[in-house]
Amino acid sequence: MTIVAATPSAIRRAADLLRAGELVGFPTETVYGLGADATNPAAVAKIYAAKHRPRFNPLIVHVADLAAAQQLAEFSDAAGRLAAAFWPGPLTLVLPLRAEAGIPDITVAGLATVAIRVPKHAVAQDLLRTFGHPVAAPSANRSGHVSATSPDHVAADLGAHCALILEAGSSEIGLESTVIDASSGELTVLRQGGLPRDKITAETGEKIALAGATGRRPNSPGQLLSHYAPRCGLRMNATAIGPSEALLAFGPHAPDTKGPSINLSPSGDLREAATRLFAALRELDQPGINCIAAMPIPDTGLGEAINDRLRRAAAPREDDA
Ligand code: TXA
Ligand code: MG
Repeated sequence: MTIVAATPSAIRRAADLLRAGELVGFPTETVYGLGADATNPAAVAKIYAAKHRPRFNPLIVHVADLAAAQQLAEFSDAAGRLAAAFWPGPLTLVLPLRAEAGIPDITVAGLATVAIRVPKHAVAQDLLRTFGHPVAAPSANRSGHVSATSPDHVAADLGAHCALILEAGSSEIGLESTVIDASSGELTVLRQGGLPRDKITAETGEKIALAGATGRRPNSPGQLLSHYAPRCGLRMNATAIGPSEALLAFGPHAPDTKGPSINLSPSGDLREAATRLFAALRELDQPGINCIAAMPIPDTGLGEAINDRLRRAAAPREDDA
């Protein structure tokens, strides 16, 4: 594994490695991805193996633009409107997979739908255009662990499995894309993420239902309750800190603590908090710490997705998350 600055020649090398069926870590504006040629079943199998990801949990297919996405999936009018409004960006659409798309079963876990995303990050765009084929990429973390928002996180979780990691600093958004099921008449959020629901409604007028995905039975296969989890425990809505606890603070009124603590945003800015969330969870997950005590975070805008991640980190652990 090598971490290399994402120069044009490094991006060409990464595209060559994808062509050769290897795995490449690369930046997007949401989180870092672990990429493979989405049309190559053997390459995609390496993703599941590297992440210890259950084979029933389908991958997101990344393409450079809407035209490339239309080769892969059927777009309803509403899906087209969302794509026009928010691509490239932190939105993934689940759509009916076209038979002639050339996407093998393993990439979509045998489903009749495919999740497609057009990332905005310049390096991701360059890689997709240089490679010229769809790239399957989950977040570049061990399955169930906190997503990777820096090249070092990728190396820590998956270094041994990446032929190359393209380095481009910390992820700008820091939360995964919002996943919307647009495969039927109704639009449903399967995973809250970097594109807040209220922003979608404000900009397009589309009403988006929220899938009741907090039970043990996920309606998006990846939405197991325990996920995004540090090694130690986590509790939410903390107002005081106990012994052997680390503080995950938010806003100007953090309680005093002698132990490790990180304030996601002293000014109470949800964007800033989202950017720092996953790195903070990794950093506070230290030897001697039993639990991360997370202060309350407003449940509006990006706060919805932040609280979703904290709830999953706080949930009882499941083996296959
Ligand atoms: O921001 C992101 O979306 C990042 C970057 C790398 O693009 N990727 C990412 O992928 O978070 P992953 O694999 O960690 O999460 C994909 C989610 C999972 O919850 C999965 O179950 C769901 O999307 N998904 C994928 N295909 C699906 C499908 N056909 N139907 C329903 N859900 C699907
Ligand atoms: Mg993930």
